[in-house]
Amino acid sequence: MVTHIEFDVLRNAAATAMTRAYAPYSRFPVGAAAVTAAGELITAANVENVSYGLGLCAEVALVSVGVSQGSLEGLGGEGGKRLAAVAVCDGDGRRLTPCGRCRQVLLEFGGPELLVDGVDGPRPLGDLLPDAFGPADLDRVREL
Ligand code: THU
Repeated sequence: MVTHIEFDVLRNAAATAMTRAYAPYSRFPVGAAAVTAAGELITAANVENVSYGLGLCAEVALVSVGVSQGSLEGLGGEGGKRLAAVAVCDGDGRRLTPCGRCRQVLLEFGGPELLVDGVDGPRPLGDLLPDAFGPADLDRVREL
């Protein structure tokens, strides 16, 4: 289990991933890097589409990469392979806090304890997405 997060390593990895973004429409490249509880590094960039609404945020791409390479399991499944920390940056390498949709996507694979980097340093995802919708909400309805 990861006990100490090297945020500078994550920030650098996010900046490198950002250089591979496909963002010709917004011209706003984004890079994301995360470490799992098991210590695996995952990186990704945003991938846009000419049909604008189909674009993928870097964090969504990151979760897809992590699941596909066997590094991540979501709360709705086994949930044993979690994200521990994530850092996101813009085209100048400045820290970005994930958008609202990405917070929910990250929650599925990191839970409220996931440390999310930001301009004022890392914060738990639970602080950025309080009272989040989660698997327990579905279970409550199924039990009726
Ligand atoms: N974007 C991300 O990749 N992550 C975020 O958290 C915010 C926005 C992307 C989406 C789009 O490709 C570009 O940034 C401009 O919104």
